[in-house]
Amino acid sequence: MLTYSSDRPVTAHEFKDLLLRSTLGERRPVEDDAMMQGMIENSNLITTCWDRDLLVGISRSVTDFHYCCYVSDLAVDVSYQRKGIGKKLIEETSGKVRDSCTIILLSAPAAVDFYPHIGFKKHPQAWVL
Ligand SMILES: CC(C)(COP(=O)(O)OP(=O)(O)OC[C@H]1O[C@@H](n2cnc3c(N)ncnc32)[C@H](O)[C@@H]1OP(=O)(O)O)[C@@H](O)C(=O)NCCC(=O)NCCS
Repeated sequence: MLTYSSDRPVTAHEFKDLLLRSTLGERRPVEDDAMMQGMIENSNLITTCWDRDLLVGISRSVTDFHYCCYVSDLAVDVSYQRKGIGKKLIEETSGKVRDSCTIILLSAPAAVDFYPHIGFKKHPQAWVL
C-alpha cells in the first residue's frame, strides 16, 4: 500500500538510492555525499511516497510558501512509474503552499512531455546562471 507524506524524514542515503532507482541519478551529483546531505537538510518542502518503508517517490522543493516554490527534484522509482505517483506528488506539493504561490521547475529531458501533460505551462523567459 502506498502512503504519501510531507513530514516523514528522508535520509540522504534514501534520497540517493531513489535518485538512482528513478534514473534521475544520472543528472544529479549522487557521488557527492555532502551534496546529498545538504540537498535534503536544506529543503523546506519534501513530499514523499512510500511503499511501506521503501521510498518510491519524492518531490523536493525550496519555497517561501507564499510567492514561489522551486521544485528541484521529482523522482519516482522506475518500478512504480506511470501509476500516478509523480502527478500526486506535485498535487501534494501544491497543496502545501498558498494558492498565490507559483510552482517553478526545470525539466529533465526525459520529462519534458510529462509537465505539460499535468498542466504546467512552458515559460519563455526562464534563465539559469
Ligand atoms: C517524470 C516522472 C517524475 C513522472 O512520474 P510518474 O509517477 O511516472 O508519472 P504519473 O504516473 O504521475 O503520470 C501522470 C501522467 O503523465 C503521463 N506521463 C508520465 N511520464 C511521462 C513522460 N515522461 N512523458 C509524457 N507523459 C508522461 C502519464 O502517462 C500520466 O498520464 P495520464 O494522467 O493521462 O494517465 C517519473 O517518470 C520519473 O521519475 N522519471 C525519471 C526522473 C525524471 O526525469 N524526473 C523529472 C526531473 S525534472
